[in-house]
Amino acid sequence: MNILLTGGTGYIGSHAAVVMAGAGHRVVLLDNLSNSKALVVDRLRTIIGDDVPLVRADVRDVAAVTETLRAYRVDAVMHFAGLKSVEESFARPAEYFDNNLSGTIVLLRAMGAVGIKTLVFSSSATIYGVPKYLPIDEDHPLEPINPYGRSKLGVEHVLNAVATADPGWRIACLRYFNPAGAHASGLIGEDPGHVPNNLLPYIVAVGAGERPALQVFGDDYDTPDGTGVRDFIHVMDLAEGHAAALEFLRGRPGCHTFNLGTGAGHSVMEMIRAFESASGRHVPISMQGRRAGDVPSCYADAGKALRELGWRTNRSLGDIVDSAWRFSRRVGRPDGNLSSTSEITGPNEH
Ligand code: NAD
Ligand code: WQD
Repeated sequence: MNILLTGGTGYIGSHAAVVMAGAGHRVVLLDNLSNSKALVVDRLRTIIGDDVPLVRADVRDVAAVTETLRAYRVDAVMHFAGLKSVEESFARPAEYFDNNLSGTIVLLRAMGAVGIKTLVFSSSATIYGVPKYLPIDEDHPLEPINPYGRSKLGVEHVLNAVATADPGWRIACLRYFNPAGAHASGLIGEDPGHVPNNLLPYIVAVGAGERPALQVFGDDYDTPDGTGVRDFIHVMDLAEGHAAALEFLRGRPGCHTFNLGTGAGHSVMEMIRAFESASGRHVPISMQGRRAGDVPSCYADAGKALRELGWRTNRSLGDIVDSAWRFSRRVGRPDGNLSSTSEITGPNEH
């Protein structure tokens, strides 16, 4: 199949590109490079062993998206493009709704115009809000507590309505838990490009000596060691979940939701210890109060994905920290010294 990955040079999209190309599909990336760099394409070429076209465009540009779908004879779309910082979403809510919700609506219009109706969407476990029970299954109430999560839930509502109105659509909403880690090559990974918000990138920055200490937000939760517990899922497992979802959609019209998580929780302290053991680096910590908006524990019931997609995670917490550390060592700091040699095309010039 020819697969368009919006946000394809980003963290999760780039790993999905590797998996989809490895499964024999042709991939094309569309990204405005607002939170990623074109040199990712060079690295993808090295991993995949083939050219990967990148269209530099905004997903809200209906003409550019429509032309890309036509020009590359796209059969299915994986929609990663969006903004993802909870903190930033409080400061710039309109931008978040515009990018995430309007972006998806424009994509749907473009897909509809060209007659492509297969879509895999990057949703988030953040749409569940404060867990009412654990593990969280797909029937858990949807009560997001931040603008980012509300924008993602808004997209799910739109996708459900679209699939209800027209049974030709095949849509999978994949609710990711806490993606972490990197491709085993160390060539691609999570590259925040600013002070990291998420736990593992911050730990890695401390391990690399770029930050003096990790602030641990809360040690008085009702969890085994008092620190927060999350369902950290290896980004390659997550990427493989997309391949499984696309395969599932071949035979299933409608809009389907799946949790993508491991089903197990690990604490902040466990993550720190795992990193120290994989890297041989000490991570100094500074114990802080709880971070606003954090919940004590959050982990998935991933049973539906196993039953219906035949997908489960295969990689451990050790694999996550090991690969993240390798990425940090191999390409150095986010900006690295590598410049891109890739040609970036407009939708009409490929
Ligand atoms: P990322 O920022 O690394 O990747 C997103 C990519 O989309 C970036 O390359 C960015 O440049 C691009 N982009 C943003 N807005 C765009 C636009 N309007 N037009 C074209 N390109 C645009 O983020 P990620 O971690 O790879 O996340 C991918 C998706 O998964 C996002 O939709 C995010 O909300 C969702 N998600 C991420 C996490 C996580 O923890 N990383 C968890 C749950 C869900
Ligand atoms: C994990 C744990 C922190 C940083 C976020 C989004 C969510 C989803 C995934 C997109 C918590 C603790 C963290 C630090 C710490 N993204 N921590 N020191 O908050 O579970 O989820 O990313 O959809 O929407 O909210 O992930 O990595 O920020 O935090 O102690 O410097 O690590 O308190 O317990 P979170 P996280």
